[in-house]
Amino acid sequence: MQPAVTQIGYLEIETADRPSWLRLARLIGFEIDAREQATGLRMDADRWARIILREGEAERLSAVGWEAASPDDFQAILQRLEQAGARPRMRPDLAHFHNVQQLAEFEDPDGNRGELYWSACTTIRKPFRSPEYVTFIASDNGMGHVTLAAADIARSMAFYQTTLGLKLTEIADVGQLPVVFLRAGDRHHTLAMAQVPSGRPGIDHIMIEVATLDDLGSIRDRLIADAYTIERDLGRHPTDGVISLYAATPAPFNLEIGWGSITVDERTWAKDRYERRTWSWGHRRPGAPETELGAIEAY
Ligand SMILES: [Fe+2]
Repeated sequence: MQPAVTQIGYLEIETADRPSWLRLARLIGFEIDAREQATGLRMDADRWARIILREGEAERLSAVGWEAASPDDFQAILQRLEQAGARPRMRPDLAHFHNVQQLAEFEDPDGNRGELYWSACTTIRKPFRSPEYVTFIASDNGMGHVTLAAADIARSMAFYQTTLGLKLTEIADVGQLPVVFLRAGDRHHTLAMAQVPSGRPGIDHIMIEVATLDDLGSIRDRLIADAYTIERDLGRHPTDGVISLYAATPAPFNLEIGWGSITVDERTWAKDRYERRTWSWGHRRPGAPETELGAIEAY
């Protein structure tokens, strides 16, 4: 079987505006672990942080941390990255920072930075406590998902399938655009990508998942009470079944907060996927014209 990453273990975000990220983090209910070099946003007891804020000059997603299950898988994936021209480079300094055994950085075809690693330290076994009593879903399938705007969707899809071993869940038409959904583990998708007809490729949004609809509703209440910008309000996706909203961030991408992602059962998936296309609603942009159909544009 082709070696494959198991999850997105963490995201690293470069920011010159830590206070705004911390405002959002508090409203959502992450546990905040401020350290000398970085600030970690904790979602579970398994990792010291799933989102890592690093001080810098830009507002960007600076790394997607892809987890390999073993040193053998790490080496095999490294080789595939090499063959695909992703120029992987070993970074012992970053391995030390993330407290993992080995780490190599690489770039995808659009120049998005990835970090492949194995042996994530389950750290201190410090219990996770959300100050807002939110339960996040991160332990089995990682932090959530990342959605890219790709310059060449076929090229990017092939890259992530052949190097990291991501599996194709489905290709859906979202409005005018085909959107590709790839998965590691059994969450519907770990990485989605849409073709950018023109303009710059990059990150469209990142997504975190909460355990209950009440978690999502209470986060929404806190965002509204604090007059925080919601880019797309509550809605349901026809693909992964997620009910979510999209919050603005200091970076040029949104943070989707969702509940209810389906998981993929390999044995039944090909049959199931055609039976779920009938419902989707919401995801309107607040203040958008009545005629705007938010649900068919969001993903
Ligand atoms: Fe999403």
